[in-house]
Amino acid sequence: MVSLSSSGYYLVFCLLGLLLTRLPSHSADPDPLQDFCVANLNATFSVNGFPCKPVSQTTSEDFFFSGLSKEGDTNTPSGVSVTAGNVQSFPGLNTLGISMNRVDFAPGGLNPPHSHPRATESGIVIHGKLLVGFITTDNVFHSKVLTAGQMFVIPRGLVHFQRNVGEEKALTFTAFNSHLPGVVLIAPNLFATTPPIPNQVLTKAFQVEDEVVNSIRSKFGA
Ligand code: GLV
Ligand code: MN
Repeated sequence: MVSLSSSGYYLVFCLLGLLLTRLPSHSADPDPLQDFCVANLNATFSVNGFPCKPVSQTTSEDFFFSGLSKEGDTNTPSGVSVTAGNVQSFPGLNTLGISMNRVDFAPGGLNPPHSHPRATESGIVIHGKLLVGFITTDNVFHSKVLTAGQMFVIPRGLVHFQRNVGEEKALTFTAFNSHLPGVVLIAPNLFATTPPIPNQVLTKAFQVEDEVVNSIRSKFGA
């Protein structure tokens, strides 16, 4: 018969505790608690997500969305158009933990550096030639030029971009494990805030003079 010392009991107790502890497993939106919960975007009260429209008022139309079928207008300063298929445009996605974007690029167009605080992103190139890149928290830059049918993944929260490096237009569809991934566009997030971030913060952070900060601000209409 094996006898345990008090430190042995303590060790067994700790191991059992570890085994019985339910480790958190959510990496994005929480699991739904019902089949669906079509968002009532006009509800006067708010919850973490959107309240459900009554099931009796739900129709098939709530589960289909044609907003990503049309090419976006890429006649923009960065030559890109992002059309979002998230819970705000497609309320049927509410609580289901997924969404998609359509991203159109003019030749040379750039989907500028940004991050999604609430989702990992995956994408597939439909046509064109895209340089896709992201930066890790250790400042390592990963990138590759992709063509039709090739996929990419951007780990949750990391800064990333896509640039059309081909001669023709380019198109990618992206998917997210959140019904509302959120987007932080790096340049406006620092240079077009309301109210403005004090110049002393930005000049010190970027090791530049006031003129440089003012010049960047003016480009973002701030
Ligand atoms: C691309 O990066 C996207 O957010 O759709
Ligand atoms: Mn993105």
